[in-house]
Amino acid sequence: MTNVRALAAQTLFQVVDKGQSLTTQLPYASRQLPVKDRALLQQICYGVLRYLPSLEHYCQQLLEQPLKGKNRVFQFLLYVGIYQLQHMRVPAHAAVAETVNAANKLQAPGLKGLINAVLRNFQRAQDTLEASADAIPVCKYNHPGWFIKKLQAAYPQQWQDILHDNQQQAPMWLRVNQRQSSTADYAARLDGEGIAHTLDPDFVDGILLTKPVDVQQLPDFAQGASSVQDAAAQMAARLLDPQDSEHILDACAAPGGKTCHILELADANVIALDADGERLKRVDENLKRLHLSAQCLEANAATPDTWWQGEQFDRILLDVPCSATGVIRRHPDIKWLRRATDIDELAALQASILDAIWPLLKPGGTLVYATCSVLPQENTEQVTAFLARTADAQLTPLHAQDTPDKPGLQLLPGHTDGFYYARLKKQ
Ligand SMILES: C[S@@+](CC[C@H](N)C(=O)[O-])C[C@H]1O[C@@H](n2cnc3c(N)ncnc32)[C@H](O)[C@@H]1O
Repeated sequence: MTNVRALAAQTLFQVVDKGQSLTTQLPYASRQLPVKDRALLQQICYGVLRYLPSLEHYCQQLLEQPLKGKNRVFQFLLYVGIYQLQHMRVPAHAAVAETVNAANKLQAPGLKGLINAVLRNFQRAQDTLEASADAIPVCKYNHPGWFIKKLQAAYPQQWQDILHDNQQQAPMWLRVNQRQSSTADYAARLDGEGIAHTLDPDFVDGILLTKPVDVQQLPDFAQGASSVQDAAAQMAARLLDPQDSEHILDACAAPGGKTCHILELADANVIALDADGERLKRVDENLKRLHLSAQCLEANAATPDTWWQGEQFDRILLDVPCSATGVIRRHPDIKWLRRATDIDELAALQASILDAIWPLLKPGGTLVYATCSVLPQENTEQVTAFLARTADAQLTPLHAQDTPDKPGLQLLPGHTDGFYYARLKKQ
């Protein structure tokens, strides 16, 4: 199959109906396309996932009933068509013709008439349909209702900005490998290649690219001169502040972005632990590209008695599994794969990892707790509860308002991804 729209419809069916992640499905579909068409496939899949509730709403109005069973993929093809008409700069006649043509490629010439009619009717009724979608919050903001409610409660002033920022394309940040060059020197090399960028003094290892580029265009990327990592994620290693010769645990390490950053900053003995063996292979690949080394260990952070050798750590990074609600703009499928009930389960898992790992920290040692979530239950509330039940844990404030009743630093999506950090010291 080499039809972009047909592949997009199949990919979206796998993600939305079958619960697969876009991160696994998109590369699979991309490989079937010539390189020149891959960006379009990505743009359509991201776009439909960003606007799914409103696209569903339009189809509800335009079809007598949703397409089901063996025709289900054509429901997603309709979303692909309408998304192009509403949000892309493809001429309308081409968007309709190409979407109808995709039905042929998906072996259903009998549905061409229906698809053509629905797309034409959308064009005719677009203003009325958009107004009716705007009256329904889930369609207006294109986020699940449970998540909108949680944001409203947590951020009475900012919730609409967060929802708006989640719908934007994420910027590309680089992390400069300080073992190979300074940030300023690498920025000068980008200038030499004509790659526009800006620096931000708050992120000393980071460079914000004006436009995303293929990593192959970056100077000495294959040799480990830089990595792609959002600026918010780059704070983890700096807050941990690793020192030479220290014994450090990165307890939820895969795919290894933060492990590698720690090792770029210090000659430390690092254990990179993760429960997922497949993801752990990516840590190894990243270490190799950057010419770094760590001990990679497939194990469960919540049960150290099964793997810990008894030597306490100077520093521990706990970048725990979380709802990933801070990185929705990079992974719009999160909105539809996550359920409200997941949050309680994740919070319980995070608490059990915190409790199990704390005894592994030396007295005087530092633990950095991190999530890419914007939900207080996984962040401030999690750390407040941990401090209350852990007598020898003390908060090391990251800013003036970082206190035990509202601990840590919450970054919201915008300039960087949404992230949360709290730094704890063992007395
Ligand atoms: C947020 S990701 C870590 C990202 C990583 N620190 C980085 O910067 O590249 C969370 C990781 O926790 C792992 N994980 C989930 N449950 C775990 C457990 N019980 N023990 C250890 N790792 C776990 C997942 O496999 C996932 O790789």
